[in-house]
Amino acid sequence: MCGIVGFTSFNQVLPTLLKGLEKLEYRGYDSAGVYVNDGDQGDYLVKETGRVADLERATENKNIKGTSGIAHTRWATHGGVSVENAHPHASEDGRFYLAHNGVIENYDELRDTYLQGVKLHSQTDTEVAVQLIDKFAKEENLSAVDAFKKMIALLDGNSAYAFLLMDRQEPGIMYTAKKKSPLLIGVSDQGNVVTSDAAAMLDITHDFIELMDDEVAIVEKDKVTLFNAQGEPITRLPFHLDIDAAETDKGVYPYYMLKEVDEQAIVTRTLSQYYFDDENNIQNIDANIIDAMKAADRLYIVAAGTSYHAGLVGKRYFEQWARIPTEVHISSEFAYDQPMLSQKPFFIFLSQSGETADSREVLDNITKQGYPTLTIANVMNSTLTREADFALPLLAGPEIAVASTKAYTAQISVEAILAHAIGHSGLNLKLELAKVAVEMQVIIDQKEDFKAIAESALSGQRSAFYIGRGLDAAVAVEAALKLKEISYVQTEGFAAGELKHGTISLIEEGTPVFALLTQAKTAGLVRGEIAQVAARGANTIVIATKELAKTGDAYILPEVNELLMPLLEVIPAQLIAYYATLDRGLDVDRPRNLAKSVTVQ
Ligand code: AGP
Repeated sequence: MCGIVGFTSFNQVLPTLLKGLEKLEYRGYDSAGVYVNDGDQGDYLVKETGRVADLERATENKNIKGTSGIAHTRWATHGGVSVENAHPHASEDGRFYLAHNGVIENYDELRDTYLQGVKLHSQTDTEVAVQLIDKFAKEENLSAVDAFKKMIALLDGNSAYAFLLMDRQEPGIMYTAKKKSPLLIGVSDQGNVVTSDAAAMLDITHDFIELMDDEVAIVEKDKVTLFNAQGEPITRLPFHLDIDAAETDKGVYPYYMLKEVDEQAIVTRTLSQYYFDDENNIQNIDANIIDAMKAADRLYIVAAGTSYHAGLVGKRYFEQWARIPTEVHISSEFAYDQPMLSQKPFFIFLSQSGETADSREVLDNITKQGYPTLTIANVMNSTLTREADFALPLLAGPEIAVASTKAYTAQISVEAILAHAIGHSGLNLKLELAKVAVEMQVIIDQKEDFKAIAESALSGQRSAFYIGRGLDAAVAVEAALKLKEISYVQTEGFAAGELKHGTISLIEEGTPVFALLTQAKTAGLVRGEIAQVAARGANTIVIATKELAKTGDAYILPEVNELLMPLLEVIPAQLIAYYATLDRGLDVDRPRNLAKSVTVQ
């Protein structure tokens, strides 16, 4: 979703701001803009719809100079995709410039109450905010920071924001504040930065100060001043972020998604080494987590999208190995329709980004109700990891492609490890995960097979199905999401036995139906369902384990413990989605309308 970068420096800032925006591209956006201030020499505001490359082209030949500036990638919420609606937004007289992530719920009311007679140039809530700052500065003779604070004080409690403000009259100073939307202040010898995503500014610094909700900061090139919610100055030391900037690069890969699919074997190995010691005992899981989970009478896994799908698989481990009844919920539903809870619930939030607004809303509600919470996330230091009682890392490294791949398998591995830690899997899980990693690599090395399958089965098709039973049904919904979100082939993931209760009427001559077949108990039934759709003209593509395979199946999966098969069988689906998307000439990493980190509800 929207991204913010700002830089106040001893050097020229435009190249760093544009590079920062490029690093934010993976989050999904539809327009971008930059404001650069060159003190007495003037200032520049350039905005464009489309890609950061379009913005970059628009800045060429303008001879833009300046040692401070702010920039933004916008994912439209209020108002359509247009240059006028792109950020930064300027106040009427061009004094203030504001970039904003989030949503101001009462912006209509604020506009009608305070801005009668002010001509607005966009349909955005952000422009209302910057016009308010200007009005308060002018009419009440407030300093920039006081006008900024006054505007913030008027925002409805449900509003979410990360603001970055500049005042043309005070070049070199950035004002920033946040609520429910991430923002970091980076410090360095070259100057200081503000960013909604550390990855955008790793070329400048790895040292970041976390800004908390309701705080305000004044950022200058050699100084950062923080104020708490009461307006008192506070000190907070930076933390060092140990990410290699190269990890956020594509390297030799044409797309991030392919790189991330390939990394799954390494991530699985890393997780087994991190969570098990040399004697195969669990390590790096706080004993308090295990105690709190053992004391629970029911687990509630809450997540969105792919993370929710990983929860569907994890349920099996928690029930079968830890013997704790487990429910899996979609966060956007749970947030406003909370089901009846057990006596002693324990909540697990699954998330790659740790910033998903729907999940944050549930965590907030659950924390208020006083129940214990654990976040399992890839981005540690994110809101969901900070605000839960406990947190465990996925250690997958930066996931940049919108389509989540390695975070999904990492979530499944960590759920398995956690269930094993609480109960009895009866497995040498460290060894089993090592085997999974080896077999993942075998599948990854055969990626050309999936290119051929994708091209022959999906070329020219408008719709497709993934079917399976049990764990295969759980993977089928993730497989379908992968394919539809990037290739735009409308795909349904289905419990195979449910097809005949209605959906089978959609099967036409040639409809691709991918069947996942890894669970021995139901293999015969799924074979029957494959025959039923084939009889109605479907083109069936069976992905089966060696033990369950038959002549004519499209791909034979290597075998690992049956309960861990989701970790393997999803990889063909990820690669089929990747190659089908390439075949259609689409951008694999940045599907339309989507954002990597969904920070609005
Ligand atoms: C799927 O490929 C998506 N990227 C999406 O469904 C994602 O899993 C969902 O938005 C939840 O995000 P999170 O894991 O960062 O919380």
